[in-house]
Amino acid sequence: MTEDSFARFPQGFLWGAATSAYQIEGAVHEDGRGLSIWDTFSHTPGKTYQGHTGDVATDHYHRWAQDVDLMSALGLKAYRFSVSWPRVFPQGTGARNQQGIAFYERLVEALLKRGIEPVLTLFHWDLPQALQDRGGWPNRDTALHFADYAAAVAERLRDRVRYWITHNEPFVAAALGHLTGEHAPGLQDPAAALRAAHHLLLSHGLAVEALRALLPPEARVGITLNLSPVHPATDSEEDRLAAERFDGVLNRMVLDPLLHGRYPEDIVAAFGPLIDVAEPGDLEKIAAPIDFLGINYYSRSVVRRDPEGLLLEVSQIQPPGSEYSQMWEIYPAGMHELLTRIWTDYGKSHPELRLLVTENGIPVADAPDLDGRVRDPRRIRYLRDHILEAHRALEEGVPLDGYFVWSLLDNFEWAYGYRMRFGLVYVDFDTQARTIKDSGRWYARVIEANGLPTDEVV
Ligand code: FCB
Repeated sequence: MTEDSFARFPQGFLWGAATSAYQIEGAVHEDGRGLSIWDTFSHTPGKTYQGHTGDVATDHYHRWAQDVDLMSALGLKAYRFSVSWPRVFPQGTGARNQQGIAFYERLVEALLKRGIEPVLTLFHWDLPQALQDRGGWPNRDTALHFADYAAAVAERLRDRVRYWITHNEPFVAAALGHLTGEHAPGLQDPAAALRAAHHLLLSHGLAVEALRALLPPEARVGITLNLSPVHPATDSEEDRLAAERFDGVLNRMVLDPLLHGRYPEDIVAAFGPLIDVAEPGDLEKIAAPIDFLGINYYSRSVVRRDPEGLLLEVSQIQPPGSEYSQMWEIYPAGMHELLTRIWTDYGKSHPELRLLVTENGIPVADAPDLDGRVRDPRRIRYLRDHILEAHRALEEGVPLDGYFVWSLLDNFEWAYGYRMRFGLVYVDFDTQARTIKDSGRWYARVIEANGLPTDEVV
C-alpha cells in the first residue's frame, strides 16, 4: 500500500468513543443520586418516544467494569464520559454525595489501568432537578453552582484525569430545552432560551477559572460544541441571508464569545434587547483561555428564509437527492469544511488551541443476524468517510488531536428513546447483553493501524 492510499494519523492521536451519564448509567435512585431534569422530563407523558426513560438505560452504573473491558477490546486510546451532577450534588449544591463521586473514581481507575485516557465532561444536560426548581439555567445562580460542582469533581479527580470538558453542546441545552421544548426542561420561551444560553457560557468561564485553580499545569480544559456548516437552500438573496443568520445563531453565537470575547453584532442586533442578560465582565470570563475545542459533527444545516421559522425567520430543510440516516442528512464533506473554517476564523487569534472531534456517528436500525453478529456496513461507511474528511483537514494544517465515535454503546437517545442506535457495541435492552458490531471491529483495526486505507471498499 502506498502512503497515498493510506490516511495515517499523527502519533498519539486520541482515538476514542463517547457516552454521557444519563444516556447509559441507569440506577437513577441508587447510592444517593438526586433527580435530574431528564428524570422529570422523560417521565412526563408525551415527551419521549413511547415514554422511554433513562431509569435503566444500559445499566452502565452496574456494568461499568464489563464496559471498560469492551473499550479495551476495541483498543480505545480514550474514553469520553460525563459525570452526573445530581450524583455528586443530589440537590445541585450544598451537601456532596461521596458515593456519587466514588463511582467515577472507580471508572477512572479502571480506564487508567487499561491505558485509556479519561476525557471527562462535567455537564451533558442532566441538570439537578432541585436547581431547575430554582429557575434552572435562565437563573444566573445556576452558573455559580456549576463552578462549585466543577471544583468538587476536580478536587477528587485532578490527579488522574487530564482532559476536562466543561459543557456538552450548550446551544442544544439552551435551544432544545428552552425554545423548542424537545428536551428537558421542556420550556418554549425565547427569552428563557437566551438567558440559558448566556448563563451556560458564563458557567463555562467560571468553571474554567475554578478548574485552573485546582488542576495541575498539564491538565487540558475545553468545551464541546455542536457546530455545523450552514448552507442556503437556494442562491436567492433571502436564503443567503437566512444562512448567515443561522450560522450566527448556531456557530458564531457560541464561538465568538468563547474565543473572541464578544457576541456577534448581527445576532445581537437581530435579538435586540433580549441579549441584555450579559452583565459587565461576563464576556471576559466566558473568554477565559481554553486548551482545546471539542467539536461534535453529525450533519450540515441547509436553511431557507421562512417568516414562520421559530428562530429569526429561518427554517431548516432537507435537501432533496441527499442521503439520509434516521435523523440527519449524511454529509461527510461538512467535517472538512467545519474543521478548516474553525481554524481559519479562530486559529489566528488562538494559535495554541487544539481541536478534538468529540462526537461523530450515525443511528442505524441494527439487529443481530441469525448467527448473532451485528452487521452494520452503513455505520462503517459513515465513519470511514468522516474520518477521511477529518484527515484531509489535518493534512491542511488543522491541529486535530483526537476523534471520538458517538457512541460506545447503543443508548437512550434523548427524546428518541431507545429507537436510535448509535453504538459500536449493540445492546439488547431486554437482557443488557453487549455485542461488538462489525463497525466496532472495523474501528479497532483503524485504531490499531493508526489510520485507514483511503480506497477500502466497505
Ligand atoms: C449529540 C449529543 C449526544 C447524542 C448525539 C446523537 O447532540 O451530545 O448526547 O445524543 O447527539
